[in-house]
Amino acid sequence: MSEQLHKIGVVGLGLMGSSIIVALLKAGCEVVAVTPLVEEFEEGKNRIIEQLQLAAGMKLLTEDVPSYRQRLQVSKDFQDLKPCQLVIECIIEVEAIKREVYHKIELEVAADCIIASNTSAIPINILQRYLERPNRFMGIHWAEPAYATRFLEITCGELTEVRLAEMVQEAALGWEKEPTLLYKDIRGFITNRLMYAVYRQGFELINNNTVDMAGLDKCFQYDIGSWITIMGIFKRMDYIGLHHYLHTFEQIFPKLTQSDVVPPIMDSIIKENGRGIHNLIGLYPHDEQSASSLENNFAAFNEEIYLLADRYRAKLKELNLTETNGK
Ligand SMILES: NC(=O)c1ccc[n+]([C@@H]2O[C@H](COP(=O)([O-])OP(=O)(O)OC[C@H]3O[C@@H](n4cnc5c(N)ncnc54)[C@H](O)[C@@H]3O)[C@@H](O)[C@H]2O)c1
Repeated sequence: MSEQLHKIGVVGLGLMGSSIIVALLKAGCEVVAVTPLVEEFEEGKNRIIEQLQLAAGMKLLTEDVPSYRQRLQVSKDFQDLKPCQLVIECIIEVEAIKREVYHKIELEVAADCIIASNTSAIPINILQRYLERPNRFMGIHWAEPAYATRFLEITCGELTEVRLAEMVQEAALGWEKEPTLLYKDIRGFITNRLMYAVYRQGFELINNNTVDMAGLDKCFQYDIGSWITIMGIFKRMDYIGLHHYLHTFEQIFPKLTQSDVVPPIMDSIIKENGRGIHNLIGLYPHDEQSASSLENNFAAFNEEIYLLADRYRAKLKELNLTETNGK
């Protein structure tokens, strides 16, 4: 484990904050968990314990829950962040509130403490300008549940010292992540950006009546879903044989949609205030039962695929394939 980044602060004890705290405790770090909302203190503490218990239920923990609890300090006071070497902000996605929180963090921590945001959508280039020392700021973007996913995007803003991002990348290996370092801040980082390209194409095919939504989802699930976890898209090209792709790229790229407008289906659903399974107004019909079934099945599936991928991850390491960086 990285000695330089052993004591870590997490600000915000919501869904992701509590899950990141468990991931770090699981990796052996000492964690200072700070809630910016006094009224959230008890609820936040309980949320972390619940997440620890969920991780224990998945057999992801090597010690009992009280042992992890000993390395955790939950606080309402930003002063407790003083000894931290890294502080990860994980509060609601509101720029003005994040700005206030960075100010409170910087008032307390040492000059060489790294500060990061788990933001999904606000550019790091914008957020880092709110800091006195923007060179120490970066994005560290986790997936939920943070303790049972390998995904981590570390994003440099234009003022970030790359050396510090590389230090976090190194430490993240000790958090049992497969971190990706982005040397530039781009909208959507990597995963979301790739998916936006897929969504644009998908909506186009539905809009021009080539396929219906369920049909398109099935293709994605049962083709791409059957190989994506083990090899990603570029290793897949090597596996299939590159000569097949060249001709297809030449033929198909010019035919892909370049649309820059929000798909009409999305427009209409947003007018209805559709929030998917969260208010049962979505692209598919939902009721209480189907919504909770989707949530529960996804949680169970996520647990299994994490363990499945893990078995093959070790095998890929044996074959030394994961060490190649590609072209
Ligand atoms: N949920 C996900 O799957 C996910 C994935 C990746 C990134 N993120 C990002 O992580 C961050 C937190 O998301 P979440 O899902 O944990 O949200 P959440 O709503 O569960 O928690 C937000 C937390 O923000 C804090 N907060 C709320 N109101 C506040 C206020 N007025 N002032 C100061 N702090 C306040 C509280 O600690 C609260 O628990 C966001 O930036 C989000 O974009 C979320």
